[in-house]
Amino acid sequence: MKSLSFLSLLLLLFIFTQANTHGWKRKEARGSQHQHIRIKKNQQSSATKFRLYTDTSEEGCLILSDQLETLDKCSFNDSLPLVMIVHGWSVDGMLEGWIWKMVAALKSQHKQTNVIIADWLSLAHQHYPIAAQNTRNIGQEIASFLEWLEESVQFSRSNVHLIGYSLGAHVSGFAGSYISGTNKIGRITGLDPAGPLFEGMSPTDRLSPDDANFVDAIHTFTQQHMGLSVGIKQPVAHFDFYPNGGTFQPGCHIMHVYNHIAQYGITGITQTVKCAHERSVHLFIDSLLHDDKQSMAYWCNDIHTFDRGMCLSCRKNRCNTLGYNIRKERLQKSRRLFLKTRAHMPFKVYHYQFKIHFINEIHEKQVEPTFTVSLTGTKEDAENLPITLVEGITGNKTYTFLITLDIDIGELMMIKFKWEGTAVWANIWDTVQTIIPWTKGNRQPGLIVKTIRVKAGETQEKMTFCSQSVDNVHLHPAQEKTFVRCANSSRRLKRKFR
Ligand SMILES: *[C@@H]1O[C@H](CO)[C@@H](O)[C@H](O)[C@H]1NC(C)=O
Ligand SMILES: *[C@@H]1O[C@H](CO)[C@@H](O)[C@H](O)[C@H]1NC(C)=O
Ligand SMILES: *[C@@H]1O[C@H](CO)[C@@H](O)[C@H](O)[C@H]1NC(C)=O
Repeated sequence: MKSLSFLSLLLLLFIFTQANTHGWKRKEARGSQHQHIRIKKNQQSSATKFRLYTDTSEEGCLILSDQLETLDKCSFNDSLPLVMIVHGWSVDGMLEGWIWKMVAALKSQHKQTNVIIADWLSLAHQHYPIAAQNTRNIGQEIASFLEWLEESVQFSRSNVHLIGYSLGAHVSGFAGSYISGTNKIGRITGLDPAGPLFEGMSPTDRLSPDDANFVDAIHTFTQQHMGLSVGIKQPVAHFDFYPNGGTFQPGCHIMHVYNHIAQYGITGITQTVKCAHERSVHLFIDSLLHDDKQSMAYWCNDIHTFDRGMCLSCRKNRCNTLGYNIRKERLQKSRRLFLKTRAHMPFKVYHYQFKIHFINEIHEKQVEPTFTVSLTGTKEDAENLPITLVEGITGNKTYTFLITLDIDIGELMMIKFKWEGTAVWANIWDTVQTIIPWTKGNRQPGLIVKTIRVKAGETQEKMTFCSQSVDNVHLHPAQEKTFVRCANSSRRLKRKFR
């Protein structure tokens, strides 16, 4: 983790020093608009190549926006929607491998779609600040292309979905804002929209919700160094998804760096630095490939609140589906949605909120136990899931946790709740007991857990579990208690459950 931070720091330093040596200022961005006008006058010099994906040509079939016959030649079907993929900054001047995976995923699920790759490599294969500056021109070229489609074959822009990765997200935003007329492009998806030189800019200088009828974004690498992050942190869409908090992604840590370098040599390093950034792409591809494993995300203020299981509500648009199949609800304000994911495809996990009321019988002492839970469902079991408490347990209080499962266990039927502890721990506990005078008879003091309330994010089901042994509710170190669905009391408890 530490070394990766170091690598990404290097990457950012590189970007940053380049930015300084080239003296990027917003003024220059405005200057580039003049440059664009020159490009627009002369279609021949369009820097963007529009490659329509066909099964027969690996490179894609080139559509030239002043040559109507190329539409026919490439078998562009104007009665089908158009998805246009826009890549980002290019280090080596070649289209990255994910593009073909994305194309294949789109085609496998939605055969009735035109898929075009907007290839702007010649202007993306530059120092980062130059490439960033070029996003405006490319956005304008895409806008002109869509206008041409509209004029020549009455192809409606509302049938267009732009999917832009990194700088490509801002390219898409500019395309949406430069297209003439009042109607907007149908949808823009920003995949980890680039941060440096866009973070904190006004909505007209980056991807923003008013660039299309519907805008969604997935933020996967917003880990910050010296005020800069590869991916933009701020919300830029109607729905902004922050998988695992958006800063960094599971499976992208140091062990994988070593593996990659061993396997691929030095290119392994850049691959790993890109890992979290590019995760946004693979999450989107995942949503296309696994219809039955759609990841759900939930509205929350921040990841810390989310990690306490506080945000699993789906009421009033509070949750949405990540990726292609998102519910296209347009809200006044950007909504930040959080979710956990696995380290690989399919990325979906199942989110549960656990709400446990503890009574610590030793009021003066704070205990910091380690708990594990084992869950029995109608389909599967999940065993020994650790619960990490952020604070010690004092007095008489309700604590909430987030628990995620890789598998669908079906309906939750039984919970085994264990206070992990060694003999040493049990000894300490005994010592504590002898120090503190105990007056309530000969029963050993402990933690009392009467009920466990559970909410399943994916099904929105709420359940209450009662201790199986009603007469012995005390929990001690190294002890396990079994909780089953409460009988008959469910209605009464439901009211208490927020
Ligand atoms: C275009 O797509 C429509 C709808 O699927 C189909 O009916 C039509 O045959 C297609 N046109 C061409 C030229 O393939
Ligand atoms: C715990 O707190 C609740 C209300 O906050 C109170 O009714 C109850 O008596 C307390 N129980 C103990 C054992 O302190
Ligand atoms: C639930 O309540 C009903 C009537 O109120 C009773 O007949 C039944 O035995 C109860 N079930 C359990 C599991 O306690």
